[in-house]
Amino acid sequence: MQLLDGKATSEEIKKELTLAILDRKQNGKKIPHLAAILVGNDGGSMTYVNAKVKACEEIGFESTLIRYDESVSEEILLAKVQALNEDKSVDGFIVQLPLPKHIDELLITQAIDPKKDVDGFHPVNLGNMILNIPGFLPATPAGIMELLKRNNIETEGKNCVILGRSNIVGQPLSILLAQNTNPGNCTVTLTHSKTKNLKEICLTADILIAAIGKPGFVTADMVKNGAVIIDVGTTRVIDESRPRGWYLSGDVDFVNVAPKCSFITPVPGGVGPMTIASLMINTLRAMELKGK
Ligand code: GUN
Repeated sequence: MQLLDGKATSEEIKKELTLAILDRKQNGKKIPHLAAILVGNDGGSMTYVNAKVKACEEIGFESTLIRYDESVSEEILLAKVQALNEDKSVDGFIVQLPLPKHIDELLITQAIDPKKDVDGFHPVNLGNMILNIPGFLPATPAGIMELLKRNNIETEGKNCVILGRSNIVGQPLSILLAQNTNPGNCTVTLTHSKTKNLKEICLTADILIAAIGKPGFVTADMVKNGAVIIDVGTTRVIDESRPRGWYLSGDVDFVNVAPKCSFITPVPGGVGPMTIASLMINTLRAMELKGK
């Protein structure tokens, strides 16, 4: 078994980006500017957004964090999105999800200028992805594709089973992995809460991707010997014996699954850092596409 080390791979990408930014600075060019909107005080969302801001600082991007109380109105949020669309100093921005229940996520996502939608959630960018037209790919699926590519994981002709059909991970990833690209050319099965015979389907997987947010859901009896396992889950599990009172759990029972597979991503340190690296790549591209 080999670890698919997303942290190490993301560091490699961040180094490349740092050099690209240094080069831009030396040539008097603009540096990319990412803005992030965070609503409320959800611990997980705060951690992710802080990690995104920290990554900007590390590689020399400009960043702006905009915070709102949980009770912010949809109207105020929409007005902020509009202001960021028009702000020429901002190259790309994200609205961290999930949003409070009284706010329509789809409405907010659709209000973002597709040219600044570095999360790749806007219907225009999702449409471009399906047609394999250059645009912004959703950060987590793009990060997983980059992780497979940079670690020379063979995907052509492989059976890939994805658990979870979310708009931001499972669905886009199913499309990317089926495309005639490298990585890609997989035969993809996208499973969900209504799937029958899930265990049998998982046992056909050469590549198994779990993105359902259920700690330890994928057990050793669901995994074929030699499979590649990508664990997208990041659930905070309460555990008073830990210094923080919780630990981060993936969707895979790592201890028992790891010995059976060829490659496996750890949690933390697997997909998470790759998501952030993809967001940084998208932000640099957003600025370059403006011709700056
Ligand atoms: N919530 C979970 N993953 C993501 C992500 O990649 N981007 C945003 N904006 N919110 C998320």
